[in-house]
Amino acid sequence: MHSPAEELRKLQAEGLLRGLQPLDSPAGPRVSRGGRAMWNFASNDYLGLARHPEIEAALIEGVRRFGAGAAASRLVCGTLPPHRLLEEALAEAKQTAAALVFSSGFATSLGVIPAVAGKGDFVLLDKLCHACLVDAARLSGATLRVFPHNDLHKLARLLSSIRAKEPHARILVATESVFSMDGDLCPLREIVDLTENHGALLLLDEAHGFGVLGSHGMGLAEREGLQQRVTFQMGTLSKAAGLSGGYVAASREWIDLLVNRARPFIYSTAPPPALAHAALHSLTLIRSDEGAALRAKLRENIARIADSPTPVIPRVLGTNEAALSAAAALADTGFMVPAIRFPTVPRGSARLRISLSAAHPPEAIAALKAALEATLVPL
Ligand SMILES: Cc1ncc(COP(=O)(O)O)c(C=O)c1O
Repeated sequence: MHSPAEELRKLQAEGLLRGLQPLDSPAGPRVSRGGRAMWNFASNDYLGLARHPEIEAALIEGVRRFGAGAAASRLVCGTLPPHRLLEEALAEAKQTAAALVFSSGFATSLGVIPAVAGKGDFVLLDKLCHACLVDAARLSGATLRVFPHNDLHKLARLLSSIRAKEPHARILVATESVFSMDGDLCPLREIVDLTENHGALLLLDEAHGFGVLGSHGMGLAEREGLQQRVTFQMGTLSKAAGLSGGYVAASREWIDLLVNRARPFIYSTAPPPALAHAALHSLTLIRSDEGAALRAKLRENIARIADSPTPVIPRVLGTNEAALSAAAALADTGFMVPAIRFPTVPRGSARLRISLSAAHPPEAIAALKAALEATLVPL
C-alpha cells in the first residue's frame, strides 16, 4: 500500500500536485495573495456580483430576518420562506413548473442524476463534462456512455443503438451549455432534437451560462428559446450569481420525485436561509436591466481580448510544466491566471484558463494582454 507521502511525491513528479493558495483579501477583480496585489482572472464572478453592495446587503438582511442557519434538512423543518421564494422565482425565470435548490452545483448533480437514472438505464455524457456530472453518472449505477466532445453523429448513433436494444430504458443525456474549461458552447438545438426523437431526457448544466447568456441571463437554453424542451435545467448560484448553491428547474413531477429521491437534498441540512434570500436578490438583479447592462459590459470586456462567445478563455499549452511556468510568470507580473491540469482537463492539454468579469476595468485587460504576449503565450 502506498503512503500518502509517496502519492504526494508522485503527483509532484508529474507536475500534478495542488496546494491551497489563500488570498489575504476578499474576492474581486483586484485581490491580494502573499501580500501582493494582483488582477484576478481566475474566478467565476462573471458579473461582479460577489462584491455587489446590494447582494452583500441582502445576505446581511437575510441573516437578520431568518437567522444564521436552517438548523434542519429541507424535508424536516429546514424549508424557510426564502427557500420557497427562491425556488418559485427560479421556476418562473426558467419557464418550468418547479425548481429545487441544493447546497452546491456539485450536490445538485449528485442528487439529480442518480435519482433519475439507475440500474438498467443509460447516462450519456459529453467527454468534457464536469467532474460532478461524471461522478453522479457513476454513482447512479446506470450504464455510462461517453461521446466525443459535441459530436452529434456519435451521440445520434449511441441513442439509436441503445433505443433499438432497450425500447423502455430511461436514457439521460447530460451536457454543459458552456464548457467550463474550454469556454465553448454545446449545439443545444441539435441535442434537444436528438433527445426528443429518441425518447431520451436531457440535463443541461448551465453553471457557466447562468447570468451570462440569454437576454435575461437564464443561459443558453433561454438564448436559444429552448427552456421548455430541456428536461432538467441545472446550474449553480456560485458563479455569476456571486454566492453559493445549486439549482435544478424541471416539471412539477420531476421536482416532486427529486424531493423524494435526491439524497444530497434529503440527507443534508438546508442551505442557510440568508443565502437563499441573497440568491433571490441576485436572480432578480441578473434578470433586470442592470443585469443586461452588466452582460453588455462583460461582452465588451471579452472582445478586448478574444473572439469568444463566453468569458472563459483557455490557452492550451500542452504540458503541465508549460502551464505551471506560464501561470507563475504571470503571477510574478501581478496577474492571477490558473494553470489547469489533469484530471480537470485531459492529459496533454494543460492550459491557462482566463476568466473575465464585467467588474474588470479595461486597463486590467489590456495589461493582461500585454503580459501574455511578454510571457510568449499570446491568445
Ligand atoms: C460545469 C460545472 N458544473 C457544476 C459545477 C459545480 O458547481 P458548484 O461550484 O456550485 O458546486 C461547476 C463548478 O464548480 C462547473 O464548472
